[in-house]
Amino acid sequence: MNDNPFILEPYKSKDFFCDREAETEVIIKHLTNGRNVTLISPRRLGKTGLIFRVFDEIKSKRLPFETVYADISDTVSLDEFITVVSNAIVNKLEKQNKITSFFKFLKTVRPLLGVDPSGSPQVSITFASENQKQSTLAELLNYLENYPKKVVVAIDELQQIREYDGVNMEALLRKHIQHLHNVRFIYCGSKKHTMSDMFTNAKKPFYESTTFSFLSKLSVPVYSAFIKKLFLSRGKAITEEQVNYIIEWTRDHTYYTQRLCNEVFSISENRVNDKDIQTAINTILDQEKERFQEIRRLITSSQWKMLKAIAIEQSVKHITSSAFLSKYGITSGATALRNINALLEKELILAETTGEETTYSIYNVFFSRYLERL
Ligand SMILES: Nc1ncnc2c1ncn2[C@@H]1O[C@H](COP(=O)(O)OP(=O)(O)OP(=O)(O)O)[C@@H](O)[C@H]1O
Ligand SMILES: [Mg+2]
Repeated sequence: MNDNPFILEPYKSKDFFCDREAETEVIIKHLTNGRNVTLISPRRLGKTGLIFRVFDEIKSKRLPFETVYADISDTVSLDEFITVVSNAIVNKLEKQNKITSFFKFLKTVRPLLGVDPSGSPQVSITFASENQKQSTLAELLNYLENYPKKVVVAIDELQQIREYDGVNMEALLRKHIQHLHNVRFIYCGSKKHTMSDMFTNAKKPFYESTTFSFLSKLSVPVYSAFIKKLFLSRGKAITEEQVNYIIEWTRDHTYYTQRLCNEVFSISENRVNDKDIQTAINTILDQEKERFQEIRRLITSSQWKMLKAIAIEQSVKHITSSAFLSKYGITSGATALRNINALLEKELILAETTGEETTYSIYNVFFSRYLERL
């Protein structure tokens, strides 16, 4: 039996999910008051988990919403978007036997219903023209608009619609969505710049159609108490110092903290030793090593040098300052900027801007810890 309480998937149940009480309440309040919500944070901090936490709360409080979750990260076109959302609808409403009613709304095309390898219903649609796609999108939204209960649709990794070829997906969605009364949206994404641009740039079609929610890291004292409680609940003692060390080593970045806790839990007996934590760290870094070495092969030596410098510093504000450049033997400010841009593009580093100031760090915490040891 696997009873490791440190989950590595976005959500299982409230018992395994730390906090986010205030965030859950705020999002529900927005939805209840007819507002769409845009949830933004760096990767692996807990956006998807929070969506499911909100859905769980809606269910347990019996709030009058039906919920649908669509992850569009793998879609590259409008037809794939339609297919993913259709499948999300069909799979969620299947129990209520609404598939036929859903299909009745799709008048332009003839969707086929099959079963995927896991046994869940799967819709496939073939389109004959661009026009058919656009009509089907309208019909799909019309189905939701006419659903007998209010519907919350979460679209995860929304930024992906910018990658669609040959269609201004933002304009298209906006055109339809602004007329919907029965449907509320939760948009989710990790590319802060793109997401903010979609919703706050007055020239862009989503302008001011949503309320922003920036998800931050979990509160350290709250997360610390949660971790300690989960160890104890399975008969394992861990000290506060040890928990705080784990959180600090993983920089309180949820996925990395969970992963290290999961590893420590799996190797410890009824009392966690400091040695267990070091063994767990080494095990994880060892497992990831090959992936990190692959990155080394894919970037230039100068970019690698920059990564190492940032990892050693943990975070860097003044990337072109002479102190930073000379400390790490970087030839010029221009080189530093060029490398930073290339590394940002590859999502190897994270830029966080507050006010005028931008702070750079290595996106993947384990990678950062690996680099600083080299
Ligand atoms: N509140 C929480 N309590 C416990 N674990 C959590 C919590 N939030 C997130 N996690 C852990 O962090 C991992 C990442 O969370 P999640 O997938 O929700 O992040 P995300 O922000 O959606 O990431 P991405 O941008 O990459 O999609 C989860 O798999 C889970 O292990
Ligand atoms: Mg996610």
